[in-house]
Amino acid sequence: MNRDMASCNTYNYGDAMYWDARYVQEVGSFDWYQRYSSLRPLVRKYILASSSVLMVGCGNAVMSEDMVKDGYENITNIDISSVAIVMMRKKYEHIPQLKYMQMDVRDMSLFPDDSFDTVIDKGTLDSLMCGTNAPLSATQMLGEVSRVLKPGGVYMLITYGDPRVRIPHLNRAVYNWKIVLYIIPRPGFEKPADSSSSVKSFMEPVPVTEEGLLPPDFVLEDPESHYIYVCEKLDDLLELAGLSLDDTRTDNADSSDKLPTNYDESVIL
Ligand SMILES: C[S@@+](CC[C@H](N)C(=O)[O-])C[C@H]1O[C@@H](n2cnc3c(N)ncnc32)[C@H](O)[C@@H]1O
Repeated sequence: MNRDMASCNTYNYGDAMYWDARYVQEVGSFDWYQRYSSLRPLVRKYILASSSVLMVGCGNAVMSEDMVKDGYENITNIDISSVAIVMMRKKYEHIPQLKYMQMDVRDMSLFPDDSFDTVIDKGTLDSLMCGTNAPLSATQMLGEVSRVLKPGGVYMLITYGDPRVRIPHLNRAVYNWKIVLYIIPRPGFEKPADSSSSVKSFMEPVPVTEEGLLPPDFVLEDPESHYIYVCEKLDDLLELAGLSLDDTRTDNADSSDKLPTNYDESVIL
């Protein structure tokens, strides 16, 4: 069974029937791209443990369970596959911090505007981008994500999609998102012994232009890297008052999670 999106043209990853059939066969759990342990530094930096979190397209991943073990208190998980949701609801019936609902991310009308502090998406926009009507599905999804996010909230997108293909979808005035990009090698990637590159910690954001271009001297060590887009929904009222979100943010990171001092958040050039 495929574990990446390389077969995008073969399977309709945007189709509920595809996922239902897959989850009927697939017992146990599987996390696409990255496990929580690798993503934790960024999750802890941007998401308070007390936040209301919406995990879109949760599948049968253990990411939400791991977040609860790490202190997160309130995670609503949705997926278009009723098979996955029934399975996960049963598995986690003893964990009150986790809620599971069958829902299409393109129509989350059950949730009022400004419902969540955070939306996490690991592989779900990717699935829609592989389905029929991909651009329309992506626009519907991102519009809904923006709507259910509180002002000041964060949409964390973990994807294989590089900035040239994802930034044009994310960087739309209507969402008013400030986007910070991180790049992380796939699990198990080993730097070639002769590599002379001086890539720094993946906790350092990578500058990107509005067209989705990386700096000309940027070296992508792992060509199959994963991209993490942290999209902050700017608060119009704070902007009017001349305050930035950074002025108001309480940093939730452990001291070990702190960014290097040369951290630069002016990421869309
Ligand atoms: C690539 S898997 C990722 C699963 C999980 N997030 C992970 O990290 O392992 C994509 C998930 O998105 C779900 N999905 C696809 N289209 C969806 C939609 N329109 N609404 C909600 N979920 C959807 C699929 O059922 C599948 O569970």
